[in-house]
Amino acid sequence: MSDNQASLTAGGKTIEMPVNSGTIGPDVIDIRKLYAQTGMFTYDPGFTSTASCDSAITYIDGDEGVLLHRGYPIGQLAEHSSFMEVSYLLLNGELPSAAELADFSRTITRHTMLHEQLATFYRGFRRDAHPMAIMCGVVGALSAFYHDSTDIADPVHRKISSHRLIAKMPTIAAMAYKYSVGQPFVYPDNKLSYTGNFLKMTFGVPAEEYEVIPEVEKAMDRIFTLHADHEQNASTSTVRLAGSSGANPFACIAAGIACLWGPAHGGANEAALNMLKEIGTPDRIQHYIDRAKDKNDPFRLMGFGHRVYKNYDPRATVMQSTVREVFAALNVQDPLFETALRLEEIALSDPYFAEKKLFPNVDFYSGIILSAIGFPTTMFTVLFALARTVGWVAQWNEMISDPGQKIGRPRQLYTGPTARDYVPVSER
Ligand code: CMC
Repeated sequence: MSDNQASLTAGGKTIEMPVNSGTIGPDVIDIRKLYAQTGMFTYDPGFTSTASCDSAITYIDGDEGVLLHRGYPIGQLAEHSSFMEVSYLLLNGELPSAAELADFSRTITRHTMLHEQLATFYRGFRRDAHPMAIMCGVVGALSAFYHDSTDIADPVHRKISSHRLIAKMPTIAAMAYKYSVGQPFVYPDNKLSYTGNFLKMTFGVPAEEYEVIPEVEKAMDRIFTLHADHEQNASTSTVRLAGSSGANPFACIAAGIACLWGPAHGGANEAALNMLKEIGTPDRIQHYIDRAKDKNDPFRLMGFGHRVYKNYDPRATVMQSTVREVFAALNVQDPLFETALRLEEIALSDPYFAEKKLFPNVDFYSGIILSAIGFPTTMFTVLFALARTVGWVAQWNEMISDPGQKIGRPRQLYTGPTARDYVPVSER
């Protein structure tokens, strides 16, 4: 905290407000007493200038293209760490020792099975249901199955439900996929890693042995790592807001999944690949660039632009190199990768994208990798949700552990009718 003050003159009054500093990043003006002192609110739809909480988990410098988890750069974590280790880091604040990592991985592995009755939930969905719709429903339903860990005031309960959520999400996601293709559910296999187990539950069948391809397992684990957390984005803020009322963690994560689904957020990976398919060949790119620039056309380049990054998204850099690794491991090519590279090149040399600082984001290349691995586009956002669950629970835990935590309750600028008398229907 600094001794700095900001002064504001409004309604003929000047008031002083504290300016607080974090460890890095912009200072914040603490406006909490503003309404009491002036009778006015601040107005910031979309929260473009509002810090909604203190957090020690993730830091983004959007101008420089920097993303740190507990201080560690995402590039280093993606290259040298694993999703399990990053999960531990996000939840606990420090990298684990070898023994702590082994213990954490064992605990997560032991929680991967679902209550058997949950399988019947899936059968209530249409076969063509979007797997994100199934995820929202099934994750919300977890609160009806695991009553023993929903006392949010108890840190042990919070820890158990956090572990359950991280552990069960791959099982839930794989079952959503299996249901959509009409294949039997595959149970978790404790011999495998978190990511290898997910691949087996998704692509394995009871009729034959499933061999995890190490390069694919590594690429998938890296994709999970890249999506693990991202500061106070829309779905994380949704989880915090839902959790601020004291709601149980499973319901809060279901709310986060619902928010993530939208094409401006996690749904962009599905939309980006669909867009690349629609563009098809590089000769058609310019037409879509022109459409993206046209104010009268709602079309946007999906996987491009970001509220915070005004530079290359560091996750997109890793994602682009991972495409090549996966292609080499599977000995496949996808002409859409050439289209994507060319689209990036054309967009980045266009003044419209340069002036608005629009760069590829994490979703631009991820669909090409996921598609090469064998996932249908409808599963892309599910994979994002699976990986982001650890970020959501870490942020939710941080919020609940804060003794000063309050229910989130924004105000508004009211623009409706002023008070008027009710008119009986016979007189209207
Ligand atoms: N294509 C064309 N123009 C764009 C794009 C785009 N992808 N993104 C932003 N713009 C323009 C926009 O029209 C606006 O122009 P103007 O100032 O003339 O009105 C300007 O850039 C600023 O855009 P904005 O919508 O005010 O910015 P925002 O911070 O509210 O939106 C965004 C950020 C990510 C929703 C937006 O860039 C977008 O819709 N991108 C495409 C969807 C996407 O890839 N989303 C994934 C985000 S990363 C993963 C995640 O968070 O889940």
